[in-house]
Amino acid sequence: MKESILALALLSAVAVAEPSLIPLPKEMAAGGGEFAFSGGTGIRFDKDVAKEAELFAVALESLTGSTPKIVREELRILLPSEIRLDLDDSLPLKEGGYMLEAGPKGVKVTGKDAAGVWYGTRSLLQLLPPPGAGVWKDSKEAGIPALTITDEPRFGWRGMHLDVGRHFFSADEIKGFIDWLAFHKFNVFHWHLTEDQGWRIEIKKYPKLTEVGAFRDSTPPYGNRNSDDGKRYGGFYTQDQIKEIVAYAAERHVTIVPEIDMPGHMAAAIAAYPQFGNSDIPGYAPKVMTRWGVHPYTLAPTEETFAFVDDVLTELCALFPSTYIHIGGDEAPKDQWEKSPRVKALMEKEGLKNGHDVQSYFIKRVEKMLDAKGRKLVGWDEIREGGLAPSATVMCWQGDAVHSAVASAKEGHDVIMAPNQRLYFDHYQHPEKDELAKGLEFETIGGFRPIDNVYAYEPVPQGLSPEEAKHVIGVQAQLWTEYMHDWKKVEYMAFPRLAAVAEIAWTPADRKNYDSFRSRLDGILKFYDAAGVNRAELPAAK
Ligand code: ACM
Repeated sequence: MKESILALALLSAVAVAEPSLIPLPKEMAAGGGEFAFSGGTGIRFDKDVAKEAELFAVALESLTGSTPKIVREELRILLPSEIRLDLDDSLPLKEGGYMLEAGPKGVKVTGKDAAGVWYGTRSLLQLLPPPGAGVWKDSKEAGIPALTITDEPRFGWRGMHLDVGRHFFSADEIKGFIDWLAFHKFNVFHWHLTEDQGWRIEIKKYPKLTEVGAFRDSTPPYGNRNSDDGKRYGGFYTQDQIKEIVAYAAERHVTIVPEIDMPGHMAAAIAAYPQFGNSDIPGYAPKVMTRWGVHPYTLAPTEETFAFVDDVLTELCALFPSTYIHIGGDEAPKDQWEKSPRVKALMEKEGLKNGHDVQSYFIKRVEKMLDAKGRKLVGWDEIREGGLAPSATVMCWQGDAVHSAVASAKEGHDVIMAPNQRLYFDHYQHPEKDELAKGLEFETIGGFRPIDNVYAYEPVPQGLSPEEAKHVIGVQAQLWTEYMHDWKKVEYMAFPRLAAVAEIAWTPADRKNYDSFRSRLDGILKFYDAAGVNRAELPAAK
């Protein structure tokens, strides 16, 4: 008898390990029986999570085809069966933590905070049959296995980056992407808004940034990166569009961290306002770039340019409530500064020995501007050149990112792990020759990054003490879009690898298991496929 109870318990433990949840929760325990979800199931909510309840109802409606009733907790309206959304800030969990209790009598999600309730509802959506499943056409009844989930995120920064400078994507595409990030409990969308090849954000004080800087004369076609298609290309987001997208993301507990990349990657802005570049060098002729790669045009470290940067950041901060503002800092060649008499005079005056010192001087000036606006600076590895600004957070990307992460954390700086060698989604998911055999439009910048390799990534580098390791505040995947000419290609490069990153960022390291992830992913693919996401095929099993 005892043995059969044990066997039963083991069986149910196995069963509950199987729901297609990505990211996998921190703890999950099986109960007995199931909750019978039906068209009559309503949502009862604490008034402080009214928005989460409303969006959950919308998601249930699009999944099931019927509109659930939603009622405030204090109203004594009877529901045939209910999902309850509650708050309890005394839960011994991190921010964003929640408990989900499902049993035959009902389902209860208790969030440590509103974000926790949101994440609990995301888990619930994944516990239900995917869109298009027969039940939603027929009975609209589905069993949710009785279970208790106790969950919280591993990292506070669970990010996905998107470059809209090389290619531009519509406001609706951005919103749709944010929905998927929210589905997998990401909480940061890093919006890379400016590039040599296009400036994508309306700045009222400097209209030429978009009139001139948002358009280029040509783009390298797929299959020949050293040529030109000769077609004018461009676009930008108006401030009204940006406000709408920021609000949309906030309701889904996604913070948008905007990036204005400086002092390099600025050719489009400098083409619009040549006075902010190194206009005192021979052969100065800025234009919006039409080829990929690193270009020489950098902002000049002059007072006039700093006033421009401050103005841009003022408008940016009015649009984006994010505490963190990304100022880029990557790949700023020093050649123009070395040739510029103005920069030479500055170096003498400020005792700057070389280009790295000028870079550090520049970034420290920008940090002061952000500080005055109550924001925090985050930048790519190269903000380390010449010495880090005092309160800077470093987004570590070069190689495996370990060197800059360890050095920065040891210096007391927070870091976000975004390694080129592991989390750059502009690399192939399948061998290059197989991809190119399908057509030129499958071209990528290069590299090979299959999903199992992404999944195996451990963000906390070796060589840090437990105290230093606390400076690793998160992890992020990157979508650089030179070789993503349209949204379908972005989806192809992002999905399903982004599910692997979601789990790296959320799930405790000792709970990660690729075989389990792979089998849960089958359930998640049904959500992608029902929505028509142009995902990549998974590699064949080894
Ligand atoms: C980068 O890839 N240039 C951050």
